[in-house]
Amino acid sequence: MAEQDRMDKLVSLCKRRGFIFQSSEIYGGTGSVWDYGPLGVELKRNIKDRWWRSMVHARDDIEGIDAAILMHPRVWEASGHVATFNDPMVDCKTCKGRFRADKLHDAQCPQKPSKHPGEHTTCELTEPRQFNMMFKTYMGPVEDSAAIVYLRPETAQGIYVNYLNVLQASRQKVPFGIAQIGKAFRNEITPGNFIFRTREFEQMEMQFFVKPGTEDEWFEQWRQIRWQWHLDLGIRPERIRWYHTKPDELAHYAKDAYDIEYEFPFGWNEFEGIHNRTDYDLKRHQEYSGKKLDYFEQEKNERFIPYVVETSVGADRCTLAVLCDAYDEEQVEGETRVVLRFAPSVAPIKAAVLPLVKKDGMPEIADRIFHDLKHRFPTFYDDGGAVGRRYRRQDEAGTPFCITVDGTTKEDGTVTIRHRDSMQQERVDGSKLGAWLDEKIRS
Ligand code: GAP
Repeated sequence: MAEQDRMDKLVSLCKRRGFIFQSSEIYGGTGSVWDYGPLGVELKRNIKDRWWRSMVHARDDIEGIDAAILMHPRVWEASGHVATFNDPMVDCKTCKGRFRADKLHDAQCPQKPSKHPGEHTTCELTEPRQFNMMFKTYMGPVEDSAAIVYLRPETAQGIYVNYLNVLQASRQKVPFGIAQIGKAFRNEITPGNFIFRTREFEQMEMQFFVKPGTEDEWFEQWRQIRWQWHLDLGIRPERIRWYHTKPDELAHYAKDAYDIEYEFPFGWNEFEGIHNRTDYDLKRHQEYSGKKLDYFEQEKNERFIPYVVETSVGADRCTLAVLCDAYDEEQVEGETRVVLRFAPSVAPIKAAVLPLVKKDGMPEIADRIFHDLKHRFPTFYDDGGAVGRRYRRQDEAGTPFCITVDGTTKEDGTVTIRHRDSMQQERVDGSKLGAWLDEKIRS
């Protein structure tokens, strides 16, 4: 299957089955902003929950926070975003198209057809101008420059400005980390590729505060931990790779950075960054706020500003990677079977309960099983149409298990479980279904 074709099919499936919709679609849509539907919100939430459990609940040395999106405007001066969070932008003098000067492969002028049918010549571009990517708004009723606040372009700054609060409230000691999941906003010049690059997105970020001199060791440790996390999520190892950021590509705060890239249908692209941010952010906040942000190490009677190793993954990009990784088509009995092969732990619906036919007491038993399971797992009930069609609908939603109530259920209390990936069936005692599913979903 051609890769563009694969992406188009995925986008269409996401809409049809209620994973992802274009924002404000009835008004013609808002550019590069997307809404998550009933299945999408479950999928993304499962990914975020997995991240939170592994970063916060499973570790003694990381605390969670949830900082506000709006912050004091000086935060963004201190962080360097007001001065340097810019992209170079160019315009086409003919078609007025706007492009990032460092990503010009899209700059084909639609108003200048080339000699070859269906192709266009490249745009005639203006000199690059710097464009700040932060969204601005006003705090309070007066819209003047003194009231400007920004929608945060990264969640990390909410962690830095709360570093002392968390340190004092939690009694953690360096090395320790602070984790957060939240929205970030960037006025991207060229957003696109579905939920890959959008103007409103969610980040899962963790800042790990370490003693200067130990940052390289921690950097390596966090690289390994984050790599393994993606494998545990079920991402195929052959579809991820490391990219070592070149010195001239580093963000203004970073001394070293590695990206984890995924092979999306539109090519290899970053979806997580591991950054050595040194003491840049805390030092700048100390300077701009006038508040001492150093750490006192009692055992050594020493003061220092901690260095920071950051792990930052986009919840939406990670969701897109999981969707792309899961999407599969195969020929079964002369028909194309579309299946989302999610790991059971991230699948939006864990099990569907299906009475084989709508008679002979089967719907009543199925209904009882459905209501029992629903309290423990996201479960779906479907009694509409041939059972084969119902299986296919669940395959498209990525439901790992279909539980069918049939004639034998009435005799011995067993049900058929049909496995999404292999389409194999097995019989399981109906009274043990909860424990059976629990084990499969947890692994
Ligand atoms: N705090 C560090 C930071 O923000 P980044 O590399 O700019 O670093 C981290 O962003 C992650 O956030 C990216 O790897 C990506 O997953 C996600 N991200 C960044 N910009 C995005 C956008 N416009 N749309 C969707 N996700 C984005």
